[in-house]
Amino acid sequence: MKLIIGSDHGGFALKESLLAHFLEQGCDIANMGCFSEESVDYPLYAFKVAQAVAAGEKDFGILVCTTGIGMSIAANKVKGARAALCSNELAARLSRNHNNANILVLGARFVDSANAKRIAGIFLESSFDGGRHDRRVGMIDNYQTFFDTEGQ
Ligand code: RB5
Repeated sequence: MKLIIGSDHGGFALKESLLAHFLEQGCDIANMGCFSEESVDYPLYAFKVAQAVAAGEKDFGILVCTTGIGMSIAANKVKGARAALCSNELAARLSRNHNNANILVLGARFVDSANAKRIAGIFLESSFDGGRHDRRVGMIDNYQTFFDTEGQ
């Protein structure tokens, strides 16, 4: 499984902790930065991670910022990215089961390192349920079709 992780300065410490954890486990994980607590613009890191996942270069992405909100908004602008902001293990599991989320977003202000590792572990070991959820995810992928046919 190929992973990619990124953060801004607000998520740097948590990102580094997660990165060390995954490397200790022997995971294939790319670090897209940032590389210090110097202030940076979170959309840049969200776009890099989301593009790598949407292009199929990586299986899953992890993004961290202070709240997780900016990273979520930015990552979901990339077609094919399904970024889910999760603050507990159930949300992480359901984001995979129901939404086929391919990027886990964490808010460093809301989850500590131990919790983040558990949440990430559940996210990565859970799978998509398909069925009715596949139809719904497909509707999101093809949202322009909805406006073309229903929204007039
Ligand atoms: C950075 O100060 C902060 O705005 C960022 O980490 C994130 O929380 C944005 O949504």
